[in-house]
Amino acid sequence: MSKQSRGALLAMINLDAESNVPKFRQLGSQIRQAILKEELVPGSRLPSTRELARELSISRLTVQNTYEQLISEGYLEASVGSGSFVKPIRSNDQQPRRPSNNQEQGVIQNNCTLSRRSQRLSASPKIDHQVPRAFDGSIPALDRFPIKVWNKIYSRHCRRAQRELLCYGDSAGYYPLRQSIADYLRDARGVHCSPEQVLVVSGAQQAFCLSTWALLDPGEPAWVEDPGHISGRDALFGAGAKLVPVPVDEEGISIQEGVRRETSPKLIMVTPSHQHPLGTTTSLSRRLDLLDFANKAGSWLIEDDYDSEFRFVGRPLAAMQGIDPYQQVIYVGTFSKVLFPSLRLAYVVVPKALINTFTAVNGVLDRAAPTLPQAVLSDFIDEGHFTQHIRRMRNLYAERQQSLLEVLAAELGDLLRPEATDSGMHLMAWLPECLDDKKVSAAAAQKGVDVQPLSIYCVKESRPPGLLLGFSCIGQDDMTSAARILAVVIREQLAALSG
Ligand SMILES: Cc1ncc(COP(=O)(O)O)c(C=O)c1O
Repeated sequence: MSKQSRGALLAMINLDAESNVPKFRQLGSQIRQAILKEELVPGSRLPSTRELARELSISRLTVQNTYEQLISEGYLEASVGSGSFVKPIRSNDQQPRRPSNNQEQGVIQNNCTLSRRSQRLSASPKIDHQVPRAFDGSIPALDRFPIKVWNKIYSRHCRRAQRELLCYGDSAGYYPLRQSIADYLRDARGVHCSPEQVLVVSGAQQAFCLSTWALLDPGEPAWVEDPGHISGRDALFGAGAKLVPVPVDEEGISIQEGVRRETSPKLIMVTPSHQHPLGTTTSLSRRLDLLDFANKAGSWLIEDDYDSEFRFVGRPLAAMQGIDPYQQVIYVGTFSKVLFPSLRLAYVVVPKALINTFTAVNGVLDRAAPTLPQAVLSDFIDEGHFTQHIRRMRNLYAERQQSLLEVLAAELGDLLRPEATDSGMHLMAWLPECLDDKKVSAAAAQKGVDVQPLSIYCVKESRPPGLLLGFSCIGQDDMTSAARILAVVIREQLAALSG
């Protein structure tokens, strides 16, 4: 126990006088780290409390407290009359490999490995939606959300402080909200359901994970639309599904092509009211064929109805759930588009036979969605604010789409061929065939403009180069400046090709 650590220890200690962390905690943490990294080896003698206090210009009591704490944690041992020593904390045959000093972010420095699943999910395209900017098609008009009304209802619930709202919630959701949603869906979407069939979950993403956990064993096949929603198919893959990408035509997912690839999918995930990302609506005859096929093949159908509320032309086609004679449709809807995405509330409507299973599985995956926002939302719907907001947003998005079409015609002319959509929050715009949509998107992003390339939504399908342009979250001025930037980007890329 004779090794002296005075110099070594002093070189390592660096106390921050400006920090809010008390000195004795800073000192303790730095000595602990030095011992764990074996920069202070077992048997080293620490400086006396008086000496260390003097060198660091701190009180002796601070050093005494630190040493006592480290002795009680088992890092140091005191020997009467000789001082404090670093204690051997591992048996000799368990000496760790020294962690590298190169703690590069994301590089695992030990012998542990990741799942193959997480490696593939990390490689999946990620879209950043943290600030509303042109031309993000995932974010609603947050500037028009009636936040005062929302806050008033929120404060009312907080004032009442009902204890049931502060407890663990029901894994199936807050019952009054399930009732409000069931009433809304019956009127607005032709969904046939009792409140018991409605489960409230933390976002549609959670609904996809929950449905896959509940319905499919790892390795079983699932049809997904190609092109299709990236996070949706990632959720299925993450929960163990073997993904079978199936092309979509102007009527919806191609059953013929699907059967050629996999005759008995355990699950089929579709966006019938507004195909994501192409924007087409699945025809009634294709819906009926799909229901019949699913029944014969023994496949569950996940109907993702993420933005059906915003239909600008005519009445929306009722949900497939409402015409399903076989009780095989799992209907998913979200409040991310109609209200705001950070709310993280969505719902899944399940056949009666699946209520208990879904509730139990959700209890494992998420225990329950947060109750207080559910209570606020329930009142928001029941007091009529919800349908009023949807009506307003439907009109606003129709106007904003029109503005976008005008801006694109004025600023981009022949460089981009936009296709007006009858519903939703984004449209498709086609690039000159010679361009690479990923390169256009990357160059635009560098200049602060978000346009998603169609190709990232494709798995096996190859489509002409196209961009998704959202019109929901920004006004005409922002659209114009972003369109000018996009025009420059496209011209630059055309020029690079020709010369
Ligand atoms: C096709 C589709 N479904 C569902 C969602 C909603 O997901 P969440 O409710 O998890 O926000 C999105 C979000 O962008 C989407 O594009």
